[in-house]
Amino acid sequence: MNTSDANHLQGKRILLIIGGGIAAYKSLDLIRRLRERGAEVRVAMTQAAQEFVTPLSAGAIAGGHVYVDLFDWRTEFDIGHIRLARDTDLVVVAPATADLMAKMAGGHADDVASTVLLATDKPVLVAPAMNPHMWSNAATRRNLAQLVADGIAVVGPNAGEMAEQGEAGVGRMAEPLEIVAAVEARLVARHETAGSLSGRRGLVTAGPTHEPIDPVRYIANRSSGKQGFAIALAAAAAGADVTLVTGPVSLADPPAVTVIRVESAREMLAEVERALPVDVAVFAAAVADWRVAEPGAQKLKKGAGGTPKLDLIENPDILATVARCRSKRPPLVIGFAAETEHVIKNARAKLDRKGCDWIVANDVSPATGIIGGDRNSVHLVTRDSVESWPNEDKQTVAHKLIVRIAVTLAAAAK
Ligand code: CTP
Repeated sequence: MNTSDANHLQGKRILLIIGGGIAAYKSLDLIRRLRERGAEVRVAMTQAAQEFVTPLSAGAIAGGHVYVDLFDWRTEFDIGHIRLARDTDLVVVAPATADLMAKMAGGHADDVASTVLLATDKPVLVAPAMNPHMWSNAATRRNLAQLVADGIAVVGPNAGEMAEQGEAGVGRMAEPLEIVAAVEARLVARHETAGSLSGRRGLVTAGPTHEPIDPVRYIANRSSGKQGFAIALAAAAAGADVTLVTGPVSLADPPAVTVIRVESAREMLAEVERALPVDVAVFAAAVADWRVAEPGAQKLKKGAGGTPKLDLIENPDILATVARCRSKRPPLVIGFAAETEHVIKNARAKLDRKGCDWIVANDVSPATGIIGGDRNSVHLVTRDSVESWPNEDKQTVAHKLIVRIAVTLAAAAK
């Protein structure tokens, strides 16, 4: 079960369906990224997609014919749409527009893209992209819930600026490398971890916490929540019943995970304690160490009194509280260590100080780009070993951690 340096995409066949959205241009890069990892990519496009990118450019990058027409005798002769749907390891829809998701949820089959999606017996991953209002519309929420219930994996969308001027919110398609990571996680999850945590309960914390200064200001940090969300998703994909307690982040709820959103460290602790008992708890949140002793009841004003003095007091240590809890301590307690120097030495000290079983240590000095970024370089520090993993995307780190957790819990149960 060694996944450390495997190239999960070598020789894999991916069918990419490009929907009609402005994000379609990113799908050309996605084809390139998948191919450079050794995947074979076939492409189908909707009519609308061809308004944004041409079949010629997609075909040139994919190195093959692009499927655009259900009734084209040449492609039907070459490889029929049913074979196109089956002769693949994974179907990726990127961008998945609101319309395409609606068609998928409703089981329509009136063009090559929707027909293939209805005919396939392979796993499907969608990367939604649309205007934030369309994304939050009740119809899209219904369709998304249906797709998730049907076992379809979802990556993104992310928050940010939209193509339309002045529009911002959740709706941007995930970046090509995030989609590649989700493709890998989906393919690997099926082979190696499916069911490995079934019957287990997991708890994950993620994101920053916000500690109020007054009703409008707060103390926070740069954590994006991506690593914790990826761990929750990977644990759920491995069959665990997962609760994710997260501080404020702009990430969509991972499918099949119970997500509890909180603001402050004290709220996070309360929700974590409520979620116990669990078999494994992973503390990936970047909890604020301090909070303001007496946050202002009203907005603090500039004035004659000079700059305000903020008295800080220490927040409860959630990881240490759970690791030292007598009655409900989970059998496996895993902390993270964000360090800017002496990473392993500090991680070892943290392991002892907090009483946890493992520490996933990472170097978060600004030059590494780990905080808020998509990749991570971690060292898995246990009581008697240190394992340094190569620089990998956060989904792969999550997946590998889940493999380790599953093996450890299974061994402990013997
Ligand atoms: N942690 C926690 N509650 C806190 C502080 C940290 O649960 N109040 C957890 C984090 O989720 C992480 C681990 O403790 O799993 C280590 O966090 P880190 O910020 O690296 O360490 P600190 O305890 O804050 O120590 P220091 O700032 O001295 O490095």
